Amino acid sequence: MSKKTLSTRPYKGTRDFYPEDYRVHQYMFDVIRTVLYRFGYEEYMAPLLEETDLYRAKSGEEIVNEQTYSFEDRGGRDLTIRPEMTPSLARMVARRSGDYTYPLRWFSIPNLYRYERPQRGRLREHYQVNVDIFGTESKYADIEALDVARSLLTEFGATSEDFEIHINDRRLIHAVYSEVLGLSEEQSYALSKLVDRKDKISTEEFQSQVREIVAQDTAKHLETLLEKDSFEAFVAYLREISSDNQIVEDAIQSFETFLNGVRQVGMSNVIFDFELMRGFDYYTGFVFEVFDTHPDNNRAMFGGGRYDNLLEIFDQPPMGAIGFGMGDVPLWVFLETHGLLPQVEDRIDAYVCVLDTQYLAAAYEYTQMLRSHDFSVVMDYSGRKLSAQLKTADRKNARFALCLGEQEVRNETVTVRTLATGEQETVSFEKAVALLKQV
Ligand code: HAM
Repeated sequence: MSKKTLSTRPYKGTRDFYPEDYRVHQYMFDVIRTVLYRFGYEEYMAPLLEETDLYRAKSGEEIVNEQTYSFEDRGGRDLTIRPEMTPSLARMVARRSGDYTYPLRWFSIPNLYRYERPQRGRLREHYQVNVDIFGTESKYADIEALDVARSLLTEFGATSEDFEIHINDRRLIHAVYSEVLGLSEEQSYALSKLVDRKDKISTEEFQSQVREIVAQDTAKHLETLLEKDSFEAFVAYLREISSDNQIVEDAIQSFETFLNGVRQVGMSNVIFDFELMRGFDYYTGFVFEVFDTHPDNNRAMFGGGRYDNLLEIFDQPPMGAIGFGMGDVPLWVFLETHGLLPQVEDRIDAYVCVLDTQYLAAAYEYTQMLRSHDFSVVMDYSGRKLSAQLKTADRKNARFALCLGEQEVRNETVTVRTLATGEQETVSFEKAVALLKQV
């Protein structure tokens, strides 16, 4: 029987992070953490595995039926690798809801698994920055969520021309569907799922599927509403086709107040988008997504919204919550596209070169002493020629090469070579430490 050769590729849609890539990844998350700490968010984490029921309760059919990695454990329990973090977060808050003072501002950067067709900006494993506020219904929490989202991008050097924030509101959608278009709950649900998929199918297909759910007149109204590219134009048309209706007027008023608040805090790139649905069933109010304005990166980079009822799945009273997720894959594409990814280099302080293997023990002690001063230091054990060791020091991007040979060991000195300039001097150990401390 022939032996099967194992592939060295990672599983489809997942990535290996070699150090040169992982450095960039960590740099991205360092910038993100800086912003989130500035806004007063605390970091949490949850397990990779959850009981499948957690997602069945409210995530939505597409994700549960088509995109999860689910299996039975050895004890017969139905488990799923987390496809999103929000249900785990809700579970954690529900479990200890009495222990905290609200609002909570929490964030997490978990890896998530979704069985998707891998493509530019979408993979099967991705890391997602989750930012959530629990325990407030204030409009200012919604505004803060948008402000955090904006700040995450501007901290990398992006400007408001580089991205757009699309917003909508489930209450407004619900008011229009039921009060203006007169749809039943089933029709509304089916239509919202269809609108959510609108970009994935052709216009003809979309129009014909709309007409399978609602009558021709209603379909026309819906299509016109979806085409309106400003909130003002949308409201004008809505008032044209609906008689005075308090529920609709309340939804309009509430959205208008929110929109004004957003503009007041200086967000000019926020766009009303009645097509924006968000796939998850748990959203109850304001929803949003952030898009790159560059045409090469047309998938959403962030998505989120208000979900005030998620704790109900744990038999707890509703609690106001708002949050969003931002994927590392589209963020990376965004930063690359706009030239905002810096060269992130690995750098060590010193590379200890040893001129003869008989001095290795002395050099090792010396290296330990340097590390006790908090310097990052690598020692060469190879016994190779000095020129070869210096070449490695250069490749390791060391600031200094510290060379120890017979003279140095005898005199308790060290030869310090500044790699950028090639200058060198032989100094005492104490002086070497002082030189390394200079930036
Ligand atoms: P989501 O829209 O499914 O929302 O994901 C949020 C973001 O994660 C997307 O905009 C995208 O950047 C990224 N993302 C999602 N799937 C993939 C994938 N397969 N590959 C790469 N990136 C991906 C949620 O997951 C909600 N739980 C977010 C939330 C938090 N809502 C409230 N709090």
